[in-house]
Amino acid sequence: MGLFDFLKSSKNNTPAAIGNLRVDIHSHLIPGIDDGAPTVDHSIGMIRKFQELGYQKLIMTPHVMSGVYDNSSETIRTAFDELKATIQSLGINMELEVSAEYFLDETLFERIKSKDFIPFNGNHVLFELSFRHEPQQLEDFVFLLCSSGYQPVIAHFERYPYYHDSIEMAKRLKELGCMIQVNLNSFTGHYGPGVKKQALRLLKANLIDIAGSDCHRIEHLQILESHLTDTAYHDLLQSNVKNTHF
Ligand SMILES: [Fe+2]
Repeated sequence: MGLFDFLKSSKNNTPAAIGNLRVDIHSHLIPGIDDGAPTVDHSIGMIRKFQELGYQKLIMTPHVMSGVYDNSSETIRTAFDELKATIQSLGINMELEVSAEYFLDETLFERIKSKDFIPFNGNHVLFELSFRHEPQQLEDFVFLLCSSGYQPVIAHFERYPYYHDSIEMAKRLKELGCMIQVNLNSFTGHYGPGVKKQALRLLKANLIDIAGSDCHRIEHLQILESHLTDTAYHDLLQSNVKNTHF
């Protein structure tokens, strides 16, 4: 698909508008359970906007962070089922799946060992790191998931400032079996110039496995929409991103 077709389909709101990004694997759309959608009306507004952009499937990944977002697998599933029923009752045609974004700390090891978590696509586990301190147990965690038959997916690798010096850690994680997820709005500069630079480096080195919206508010989708004709998105659409595998 050429760039011209891309622009044209975007205006027509056809499913081809965002091409192979039409499956989103990272979002905070379930109301009232993390720092994403505060109410169901916000959830509906965001899901309609995803639809307008050409998305066909959304995997919802509320935060699970001990002491901050103490969501359990059960409360997440219950809240998701409620939202899904609402979306269906409104006749919105969007495939929905539930998972979570797990913060890497000691409690997460226990959670994995006791199988109290919600993978997406059967065995994929989205996890995030502290933005302040490089975790000491990252490689151990990736090993634990891989050796237990799960596919680790590191959330927004480009956003961790302690890895901004190089892309070596991304290469290392991929060698260990981890997938690299990058946020779509990182290419817009939304998270700052350092994050944008790192996202572009990862793209150039073809290290990005999955692109995600990490949508918390409708503004995230509006920012994305206004940048969809940027070169970075054109390059991303031509890259090896595997969004449509899910
Ligand atoms: Fe997130």
